[in-house]
Amino acid sequence: LPVEEAAPEATVNVLVNNKADQSFQVRLAVNRIDYLVPFALEQYKGKTVTFDIHTGNSRTNVRDAMADACWKELKLSDTFDDANREVFRPFYHHTPVYGWMNDPNGMFYKDGEYHLYYQYNPYGSMWGNMNWGHSSSKDLISWQHHPVAIQPNGLGAVFSGSSVVDKDNTAGFGKDAIIAIYTSAGASQIQSLAYSLDNGMTFHVYENNPIIAADKECRDPNMFWDADNGRWVMSLAHALDHEMLFFTSPDLKEWTLQGSFGKGIGAQDGVWECPDLFRLKVDGSGEEKWVLVCNINPGGPFGGSATQYFTGDFDGKTFIADTDAEGVIPTKWMDYGKDHYATVSWSDVPDNRRVLIGWMSNWQYAGEVPTMQYRSANTLPREAGLFRAPDGQLYLSSSPVAELAALRDKPSVSVRNKPAGGNGRNFPLPGSNGGACEILLDIDSRKAGSVDITISNNDGESVILSYDAKAHKLSFDRRRSGLTDFSQDFPTVTTAPTFETDGKLSLRIFIDRSSIEVFGNGGKTVMTNLVFPTVPYSSVSVSAKGGNARIENLKIYPIKEL
Ligand code: FRU
Repeated sequence: LPVEEAAPEATVNVLVNNKADQSFQVRLAVNRIDYLVPFALEQYKGKTVTFDIHTGNSRTNVRDAMADACWKELKLSDTFDDANREVFRPFYHHTPVYGWMNDPNGMFYKDGEYHLYYQYNPYGSMWGNMNWGHSSSKDLISWQHHPVAIQPNGLGAVFSGSSVVDKDNTAGFGKDAIIAIYTSAGASQIQSLAYSLDNGMTFHVYENNPIIAADKECRDPNMFWDADNGRWVMSLAHALDHEMLFFTSPDLKEWTLQGSFGKGIGAQDGVWECPDLFRLKVDGSGEEKWVLVCNINPGGPFGGSATQYFTGDFDGKTFIADTDAEGVIPTKWMDYGKDHYATVSWSDVPDNRRVLIGWMSNWQYAGEVPTMQYRSANTLPREAGLFRAPDGQLYLSSSPVAELAALRDKPSVSVRNKPAGGNGRNFPLPGSNGGACEILLDIDSRKAGSVDITISNNDGESVILSYDAKAHKLSFDRRRSGLTDFSQDFPTVTTAPTFETDGKLSLRIFIDRSSIEVFGNGGKTVMTNLVFPTVPYSSVSVSAKGGNARIENLKIYPIKEL
């Protein structure tokens, strides 16, 4: 099917042996063809398939519609060329092979494999036709791509949700069945169940859906087994009311509303979406606390979408947030970049690890970023922790998962104990694999007021990370990082608290072809930002203002292919 992204959506009704089978939207090319998307016919072998196509333009007659560019290139084919055509496609981040992706969904771990589903449009690189795309990985680095797992069905498009392994067969679909609950988005948003008896490869839609019909805009159900109370708990975003609802169930099918949290609390300048609720140990103590993740769009700290969270307690029915010294519930952000959204965690990961992944984009410009064959990548997977900051509050840390160390090749730069002053010190970045690398930098800034870490290329494009040791802040300036003019919301400076008191910063900076993720001081400071340099960044320099800083340790690891 030939697509033109600027064309209006046409509706394609697929009739099989003259009976309606499915229907989808596609921006069929009118003036020019941007790319092709496939529609698989194999599923209909031996049957007669008719396509009833309604073009998106209001045409006065069929002859006008027949002039559209799509008809000349619409073709039958035994193959689909999915070889990468994108210079900005990440080298080591998860992307769909083609088509649009937003939220990560329904992630679970079973038998050594991490399953990752995602909001997916197979018929173009713009949002639409929400399906659950599916990938899996044994190491959270290399992803294998699988066929779509859940397709739009009778109740509407398949929006975000979660999955669990039903170890005790509470739902009655079988021991260790995978139970997914997602939002069916049709005329209103209702919650549906689907189960899988083959470890998440294919799903059967439950015949008594919907299982919850709460209110028009309720979505993104997220479940876990509450061992303390011997039942399932679901958090559900009551999007327009800016709150999360909590339901409980003995069997994943019958749900009872128990409580809610959020009205008038935290950031409120956007819809609340994609909740997650989990318990974590506080670093360095035996204490355990709960974290409620409330993604919000817009209303993030730098505009558009972002991941807000609260720390507190969960009494089996509702969430009770921690307050600060003044008795106010503070707004906390999981990542201080612009490109981190819809972040949720995997269920059933062993060793009490809480592994999360986010969609590495922002609703302000996700549809305009300069790629076409696919749109959007996911962040690197991160492991969550809780720490108490100098202000007495608990905060979430997000560290790159330990598995990512396997990506490191021999360091191309390794330096210890070097002063860095006003003129700065320059180091080359690796040229292999589109410049993909990890930079490890421990810097002592006690004698300097601030330190600039500049990542640049030969086209004069750069990203500047500025550490203000007095204000305990780290900023990320991507205003001159490369292509930025596809959206006025893209060129920005994002700023994060560093939570240290000693003027020292330990950074891990992950550069891929179109993203930079910065983790400071063991994941206490995190910034994820997209960048589109016209040629890969090729050097990093460290300079200081107000006195010399000391580079205690610098290592640059080229990223290798696994
Ligand atoms: C968040 C979101 C969800 C919804 C999904 C639809 O980005 O708006 O609330 O389920 O995207 O694709």
